Amino acid sequence: MNTVRVGVIGAGSISVSHLNSYKNNANAKLVAIFDLQEERAREKAEKYEIEHIFTDYRELLASPLVDAVSICTWNDTHAQIAMEALQAGKHVLVEKPLAQTVEQALQVERAAKESGKLLQVGFVRRFANTTRVAKQFIDAGELGDIYYAKVSCLRRLGNPGGWFSDKKRSGGGPLIDLGVHVIDLCWYLMGRPKVKSVSGNTYRKLGNRSHIQNLSYYKSADYNASNDVEDLANALIRFENGASLMVDVSFTLHAKKDELSVKLFGEKGGVEMEPELTLVTEKHNTVLNVHPQLDHLKFEFTSAFQNEIDHFIACCQSGEQPLSSVQDGVEIMKILCAVYESADKSVEITFS
Ligand SMILES: NC(=O)c1ccc[n+]([C@@H]2O[C@H](COP(=O)([O-])OP(=O)(O)OC[C@H]3O[C@@H](n4cnc5c(N)ncnc54)[C@H](O)[C@@H]3O)[C@@H](O)[C@H]2O)c1
Repeated sequence: MNTVRVGVIGAGSISVSHLNSYKNNANAKLVAIFDLQEERAREKAEKYEIEHIFTDYRELLASPLVDAVSICTWNDTHAQIAMEALQAGKHVLVEKPLAQTVEQALQVERAAKESGKLLQVGFVRRFANTTRVAKQFIDAGELGDIYYAKVSCLRRLGNPGGWFSDKKRSGGGPLIDLGVHVIDLCWYLMGRPKVKSVSGNTYRKLGNRSHIQNLSYYKSADYNASNDVEDLANALIRFENGASLMVDVSFTLHAKKDELSVKLFGEKGGVEMEPELTLVTEKHNTVLNVHPQLDHLKFEFTSAFQNEIDHFIACCQSGEQPLSSVQDGVEIMKILCAVYESADKSVEITFS
């Protein structure tokens, strides 16, 4: 099979995971890179031996040397660059979220259909080994129908600042940045049911708390203290099959410690994805906690990322639709946007 020649657009923090994983994939070759900050692109090009540094993403997209692109830019550019890439005949791996609005997401979906090229959304948690194992048990019916999921991804202090806290560039705060991953994980494991209604709340109470001392946290490269995104979002999502998902996510909160818990409950059993993969079931009138033996019982970022990139390259070669498809990107945008709309209007949003 032909080697897939890859261009990377956006050379910031997450690009490193893309670059490392492509480098490890024998069927991929890194050939081009572009960032608004040329120095950043140059530094990555040297490190990863990338021959072509472009000065405009449209030039990169027009290049016949490139078969596929990773889009690792700020959220406000994902949809536009993805559409142009598809129209230029490139396969696309776009970082989450697919877009900032449902309309944009639908435009990308149309572009993918018209171009016949593939688009994979960077829902990296789907590609974790823990997710694969849980999915096997769920698909085999061991948990029965899953009717409830509950997920908390709470940072007590962790607004990254910079573009993350600039609503125009990010589209929102913890919901669109962190919530997107954990909502997608639950939705995927629940069997991707059609969303029926969403009721959400967002709060901007604490700001980015840049005055806090003695606690360290991740700050974006272009950190500044301006901030117009929510601190906290919560939502109750109902699905047409009667199942429901409760979620809360924060960049900052007066909480004792950070919390990540992802739990799904079925008629025959349950599964906790985080803080540690555990299955819950009953046998002979006794409830059992089942602890599988895996190298990692929590989400392991590096291997999940490698799986995600390997999958993308394999799809480019085979023409098969990716596991995290553009359609799924659209469905997740519907949920995220409905949470924001519900919070803004203080009403439940229903889908027909
Ligand atoms: N999958 C994950 O777990 C994960 C983790 C972190 C970030 N992300 C996503 O990756 C994307 C980038 O996040 P990051 O943490 O790398 O941010 P970052 O600020 O470190 O890097 C973003 C880079 O994109 C460049 N850029 C912005 N607009 C551009 C454009 N139009 N053309 C070319 N370059 C452009 C910036 O100059 C910057 O170098 C975001 O969408 C974010 O949601 C995903």
